[in-house]
Amino acid sequence: MKLTILTALCVTAASTASCSSPTHAGDPARTAAPALAATPALWGEMKPVVSVKELMRDFIDPASDYVFDAVGIVSTQKNIVETAPKSDADWDKIRTGAVMLAEGAYLLKVPRPFAPAGDENNSTGPDPEELSPAQIKAKLEADPVLWNAKIEALRNVGLEVLAIVKRRDAKELWDAADNLDQACESCHLAYWYPGEKEFLKKLDRRLDELYGIRADRTRKLGMDPK
Ligand code: HEC
Repeated sequence: MKLTILTALCVTAASTASCSSPTHAGDPARTAAPALAATPALWGEMKPVVSVKELMRDFIDPASDYVFDAVGIVSTQKNIVETAPKSDADWDKIRTGAVMLAEGAYLLKVPRPFAPAGDENNSTGPDPEELSPAQIKAKLEADPVLWNAKIEALRNVGLEVLAIVKRRDAKELWDAADNLDQACESCHLAYWYPGEKEFLKKLDRRLDELYGIRADRTRKLGMDPK
C-alpha cells in the first residue's frame, strides 16, 4: 500500500531525486521515467574507516556525552549539585552532540567489521559476557530490519534533542537523556551482550530469595518513584 503511494508520487514528481527505491524492476512507473533508474541514492560512495567497536568508542560514545553530561544531580553528604544547561555555550554543546548522533547513527548502516582484526571481544570462557564479532554479524544478517530499527531509534533521540535545543527546554532534556540511554542499551542487549538480561533476572531472583525484595528494574535509578 505504502509502495503504491510512493510510486504514484514518483510519477508526478518524476524529476525529484528521492524516488530511487531499487524494488521497482518491471514497474510501469519505472519504464515511464527511465532517468530515475540512473539517479544515485547517495552523492558518492560510503567507505568505512573503523570497526563498529571503534566507531562506538571514538564517535557515538563521545557524541552521547554532550547530552548525558548536560543534565544530572550529584548528591554528596554536604549538598546536592544539579547540572543543567544555562548559557549559549552549554546549549551549543548539546546541539553538537545531537547533530553527531542524528547524522552519525547512519554510519552504522555502512558495512564494516564489528571489531578490529584479531579482537574477539570477551566472548571466550565458560560464561562469556559478550558475543564475538562473528556472532554479532550473524545476528545482524539474520535480521537486518532489527539492526536498522535500532539505528533509527538512536537517530530519533538525536532529532528529539535537536528539537529540545531549539526550544531550550532543560526539563525535557532529562527525558531525552533517558531515551538516549535506552536507545544505546536496547541495541547492546540485542547484539553485544544478550546474556545480560538473563543475568539480571537471575540476580533479581537471588535477591528475592535472600531478602524478599524484588529489585524494580523499570524504575529510573536515582529518581523518586512516581
Ligand atoms: C545499532 C546498534 C547500536 C547502538 C544504537 C549503539 N551501539 Fe554501542 N555498540 C554496538 C555493538 C554491536 C557494539 C559491540 C561491537 C564489538 O565489540 O564487536 C557496541 C559497543 C559499544 C561500546 C564499546 C566500545 C569499546 O571500545 O569496547 C561503547 C562504549 C558503546 N557501544 C557505546 C554506545 C553508546 C553510548 C550508544 C548510544 C549513544 C551506543 N553505543 C549505541 C551497537 C550499538
